[in-house]
Amino acid sequence: MFNKRIKIKELLAQEPASQEVTVMGWVRTFRNNQFIALNDGSTNNHLQVVLELGKFPEEILKRITTSASLRVQGIVEPSLGKGQKMDLKAVSIEILGDSDAEKYPLQPKKHSLEFLREKAHLRFRTNTFGAVFRVRHALAFAVHQFFNERGFIYLHTPIITASDAEGAGEMFRVTTLPMDGTAPKNEDGSINYKEDFFGRSTNLTVSGQLEGELGATAFGEIYTFGPTFRAENSNTARHLAEFWMIEPEMAFYDLEDNMNLAEAFIKYIIGYAMDHNAEDLHFLDQRLAEEEKQLPQDKRSEMGLLDKLKFVVDNQFERITYTEAIDILRESNHNKKKKFQYEITGWGMDLQSEHERYLVEKHFKKPVILSNYPAAIKAFYMRQNEDGKTVAAMDILAPGIGEIVGGSQREERMDRLTTRMKEMHIPEEELWWYLDTRRFGTVPHAGFGLGFERMVQFVTGMNNIRDVIAFPRTPGSADF
Ligand code: 4AD
Ligand code: MG
Repeated sequence: MFNKRIKIKELLAQEPASQEVTVMGWVRTFRNNQFIALNDGSTNNHLQVVLELGKFPEEILKRITTSASLRVQGIVEPSLGKGQKMDLKAVSIEILGDSDAEKYPLQPKKHSLEFLREKAHLRFRTNTFGAVFRVRHALAFAVHQFFNERGFIYLHTPIITASDAEGAGEMFRVTTLPMDGTAPKNEDGSINYKEDFFGRSTNLTVSGQLEGELGATAFGEIYTFGPTFRAENSNTARHLAEFWMIEPEMAFYDLEDNMNLAEAFIKYIIGYAMDHNAEDLHFLDQRLAEEEKQLPQDKRSEMGLLDKLKFVVDNQFERITYTEAIDILRESNHNKKKKFQYEITGWGMDLQSEHERYLVEKHFKKPVILSNYPAAIKAFYMRQNEDGKTVAAMDILAPGIGEIVGGSQREERMDRLTTRMKEMHIPEEELWWYLDTRRFGTVPHAGFGLGFERMVQFVTGMNNIRDVIAFPRTPGSADF
């Protein structure tokens, strides 16, 4: 058997008592031909491997370079040096894989996040990305645990679909037809997708919600957690063309039930990461504090990362209506001094992220759930309120991020739903299967979508969404 090793995280949790162990990992640094900082990805804390001078041949020593992979067998002893409680006194060292120090792209020094994005295939081997991706894992695991504990069914909705769930038309087409102009055409010259692989035009999904509703109206409560795709040309620090979304959908829920679940969910997964990834979050807290020292005073966050997370878990989110939000924005000094780039034109306008961030960061200083938006700026499936102009929508806005959740109570009344679809030019024939849930045993139901990367950004304090997904897909970029 090759792999009989102890992970460094587990080893560092033990007391050093002359135990004999085998570890494997990658060299971070090698000093004085004596001290190896070895990392195996289980933690950001390196194991100090100590080599007795003269014990190992020169040919081995010169192969212990940054990012070389090693198997080390040795004896664990209390460390004489400061900074670590134990050393591994090497008895034998095997080089599993050499790493040419001249060619290895990451030098043992601080690199910018932009530089590391170009080296995304290796950036997991840095402290920052080690911490970010272990926290990302913990959050993903917590998502499943939260819903599993509550009896929700994890439903895998399709990636390839023929529907545009959000009606926003920002879709990537999926086709096997030739792109060289020889694709079969209709009489009017348009492409004949009847000849395409699926016998119709298809795209990558923008949301699993509509299929999720089919599940909820049988199982009661379901959630999806999968990749979604948007071909929106937004080159911002909060948009990806491929991102992961969690979409719970619940029968017998109204808007308030929906908000309660969303708030409890967010607090739960943050709490889980705080309990299980304290070291990584502590590291990220320090990293952010360092980074913010470079910023002018007024651009710095009022709270450190850990304080912010604790604050969010311990305090109720603010809940206001869209109409109240517009009033607050209109009356704000920020608006009166004309500091918004996009003017507050009044009721009916869509909120820009600067407006959302003003509400959470400057006005309430906590997460805000905004509800009951004008129907005209929201999707067709949202439940129409009795005022005839708003829908039972809710968005959750988070400090530093803006919109993190979008959701609503769904329109369960067939006549209202089909009327709205007609107004929005959505053909009923295409969504016959969706409308069947309203035909056969319709129920009040609700759901929401949490953008997973935005959540990871919030918890790790990373400014750019490209730094919380392994291999970001954004306009003009799909490397790795
Ligand atoms: O607000 P959205 O578009 O809502 C939906 O897709 C609904 N079907 C959800 C539902 O009710 N089941 O997207 C939901 C969330 C946003 O709040 C945001 O966090 C994230 O998905 N999101 C993005 N994240 C990264 N990059 C993008 N381009 C995103 N677009 C939306
Ligand atoms: Mg939205």
